[in-house]
Amino acid sequence: MGESLLTAGRRAEGQEGDASARQAALFADAGLERRADGSLLLGRVPLEDIAQAAGTPAYVYNAGAVRARFAALAHALTPLDHRICYAVKANGSLAILRVLRDLGAGADIVSVGELRRVLAAGFSPEKVVFSGVGKTRDELAEACAAGIGQINLESLEELETLARVAQLQEARIRVGIRVNPDVTLNTHPYLTTGTAAAKFGIPADLVLDTAHRVAAHPRLELTGLAMHLGSQLLDTAPYLRGATRLVELVLQVRAGGISTLRALDIGGGLGIRYKDEEPLDPERLAATIRPLVSGLGLALHLEPGRYLVGSAGVLLATVLYRKHAGGKDFVVVDAGMNDLVRPSHYNAHHEVVVLRDQRRQVQQVDVVGPICETGDFLALERPLPAVEPGERVAILCAGAYGFVMGSTYNARPRPPEVVVDEARWAIARPREGLEDLMHGEQVTPLADAP
Ligand code: LLP
Repeated sequence: MGESLLTAGRRAEGQEGDASARQAALFADAGLERRADGSLLLGRVPLEDIAQAAGTPAYVYNAGAVRARFAALAHALTPLDHRICYAVKANGSLAILRVLRDLGAGADIVSVGELRRVLAAGFSPEKVVFSGVGKTRDELAEACAAGIGQINLESLEELETLARVAQLQEARIRVGIRVNPDVTLNTHPYLTTGTAAAKFGIPADLVLDTAHRVAAHPRLELTGLAMHLGSQLLDTAPYLRGATRLVELVLQVRAGGISTLRALDIGGGLGIRYKDEEPLDPERLAATIRPLVSGLGLALHLEPGRYLVGSAGVLLATVLYRKHAGGKDFVVVDAGMNDLVRPSHYNAHHEVVVLRDQRRQVQQVDVVGPICETGDFLALERPLPAVEPGERVAILCAGAYGFVMGSTYNARPRPPEVVVDEARWAIARPREGLEDLMHGEQVTPLADAP
């Protein structure tokens, strides 16, 4: 039997109500505000002003929203002895790094490129931890020479390379062991890193042996055990399982006579709201972890990336064309998968909103970019007000894994990054020029092989 008109009407009303509640929550997370005249502000700056001055596509980050997230997490972790090491891979903008450094954050890095960034932003090297399965000898050497806080080992093979570096530099190096705690997760498979089959970390049954090898080396000091389970986690249960495993290992390492441990690092992964998820509440996470770690005499380290910056950023785009084909309505915008790859790579959901709201019909559309790939979309089958060419839209929750995962595919220069702080704003990184795309390239005659 078909749905009665009344129920259909109520359902439509309910859906509209859900959609506006959802949007209100996303706006609050980002520090976005819709004014009565229909314009959209980030912080206190109209996004239309930024789009006009900086052009589109453009990333815009709200420093105030980053600070609010940091404060919420720090509050939840107090009075535990803790450190928030921002995962730079989420958004390496120097302006964002400076905001986090000013708040007293440490940094979690995965390459020498990120090391140079955090040092340029003024982070103190002792507050930096270096993770990653493929650190090269040169990278380890540069990190050690810079005096960074801890190198997190991901394999026994890496330990050999690090030991050689330590020998050459005649330095004393603080080492953490990144444990693979073998915890399965309910997230996108690409975002799962702490299962036994993943390439990350040292399996729990090899940790004690690794700890002894580190401790036996005259130039290495074992200062931490670490884990990172995966990303966009919405539940505290995996943290509980992983941290319980880490604490068992701490006790084993200590029972083995090693007494140099100073910190337990439970990684990043705190999930945020992209659509209608219930985000991971830092207070709940702290309440889960606190009983495990208090009394251990170790500092608690976290490595959040997305939680601190994800909601705080939007990607602005301009509508180029409306197109109807194959029974579908397409909105072609000037931002593509080269600017924000998450929708096509992970099938991730990002809300799309118009910069200038006015009463008009809502249509079901695919929001697509200019790249020559069918997978180049920002949103599929989305209700969107009937936008006109020349109009601007904002793609929400683009502050993490946005610009940093961008490329120049189809020879498209990278967009600018803009930072807003209350009523002030600045272009933190200018749009790349077309000439930058050929920088250093030459058409040279080929030489004969020797
Ligand atoms: N620590 C380590 C060792 C990591 O590998 C990561 C992220 C983090 C911390 C920070 O995780 P977060 O708090 O941001 O979840 N490109 C994907 C996310 C990949 C995350 C990789 N590792 C995305 O766009 O969703």
